[in-house]
Amino acid sequence: MSSDPSSKTIGVGIIGTGSRGITCIGRQIAEQASELNLTITAFCNRTASRMDIALDELNSVAKEAGNGAFAVSFYEDPLDLISDDRVDLIVITSPTAAHAEAAIPALKSGKKVYLDKPIAHTLEDSRAIRQAEAESNNPMIMGFTRRYETPWLKLHDIVSSGKIGDLKMMLVRAVLPYSFYFQTWHRTRAVSGGALNDKGSHYTDVFNWFGEIANSGRATQVNAFGGRNVFIEEDNAPEFCAECERDCPYRVGVAMPDTQDQMKGAVDASYETETDPLKRKDNCVYKSGADIFDHASIHYQYENGIVASLFYNVYGPQADDEETLELVGTKGRIILTRLRGEIDVVTDYGEKSHEVVHCKSDDFATSHFGADKKLVQEIAAFARGAQSPVDGGAGLEASRMILAAMQSIDEGGVTVQL
Ligand SMILES: NC(=O)c1ccc[n+]([C@@H]2O[C@H](COP(=O)([O-])OP(=O)(O)OC[C@H]3O[C@@H](n4cnc5c(N)ncnc54)[C@H](O)[C@@H]3O)[C@@H](O)[C@H]2O)c1
Repeated sequence: MSSDPSSKTIGVGIIGTGSRGITCIGRQIAEQASELNLTITAFCNRTASRMDIALDELNSVAKEAGNGAFAVSFYEDPLDLISDDRVDLIVITSPTAAHAEAAIPALKSGKKVYLDKPIAHTLEDSRAIRQAEAESNNPMIMGFTRRYETPWLKLHDIVSSGKIGDLKMMLVRAVLPYSFYFQTWHRTRAVSGGALNDKGSHYTDVFNWFGEIANSGRATQVNAFGGRNVFIEEDNAPEFCAECERDCPYRVGVAMPDTQDQMKGAVDASYETETDPLKRKDNCVYKSGADIFDHASIHYQYENGIVASLFYNVYGPQADDEETLELVGTKGRIILTRLRGEIDVVTDYGEKSHEVVHCKSDDFATSHFGADKKLVQEIAAFARGAQSPVDGGAGLEASRMILAAMQSIDEGGVTVQL
């Protein structure tokens, strides 16, 4: 028998077969199954009907890509999937509050684990997952998408080369048309930890990732203002978009940018038949019961004095500059505009050069601007023994920073020590 790890077909079990697990990661596995020698062997979902729809979607993608259909076992309890011998790699893409119940036993099982961000909805769960990872000596790989996107990787190289001098300030501007946070399970902190944790943990991870270049150390303090100033409760709000006749800019299907069409699969559309509000994807943004923020302005200070800011909302207009990262060094500045796949660099104190670098990859039109395709390649290598590029330590740090910012907002903008 060959001992070459690349010759073994890796069996993948997906816990949480929704938008992220199926339409993003599952799709990329189905498309690249032959090249990467992966197969999907198991699903787990607390709502059993969601697994039939998920399998139909993935088998049709696999067929289109010339790969065979998957033979998949269905489970309602994550422990049953984890102990299935046909599962080598466990992909956890359930709603954030359900991460710990799957991630802790998965890590302890010794199998390879992919966990999506944010690590968890509370600091307590985040620490428990990180502890299980450390105690089992089984580093997992996490889904901080920007670490797998070509322009962000290119930006990291440019800053590491010293082109803008020593990094001193970082700013993420995220003016996002993401009303869906008020329309899905993300609308309650009890399930999501807050939309800010969901999205903002990407950005705090980006701050930490770039901060490492300049030996920033850890973030030591934060203050923040924010709350809700657009998606404010209305007494006469309808329950769901499906039963509403208002002309509303936030109607489901209207507010997501066209660039991410591949993220709107059959799995998503099928939620229309559910009656439980937490399973719907078209709750009215003005309905009572949401306890998340729709905007925030957050400021961190790092051990070595670097400062980082996040300027964020989820009621932004659709625009190709909805997400930017600006980094300022001692000799220049650099701005990445995510939807354009473009980096604008000023070096040498502005005396000589102003350059615009276009760095869209060939896969830019696929989900998360090509990141999910690359992520699945990284996951496959990780399952065969490569080192994790981003583990639970980074996940804990990213959520620790965001949850502290939420505490600052809840307490009226006080400075919180981290
Ligand atoms: N890395 C990224 O860029 C990115 C993007 C989107 C979502 N996510 C993360 O992926 C996770 C899932 O988000 P989503 O958008 O796919 O949500 P979703 O609602 O589309 O899918 C979640 C699925 O999990 C199922 N589920 C619910 N409770 C479960 C449980 N206890 N065990 C197993 N399955 C359960 C639901 O029925 C649903 O099918 C979240 O943590 C989210 O933050 C990450």
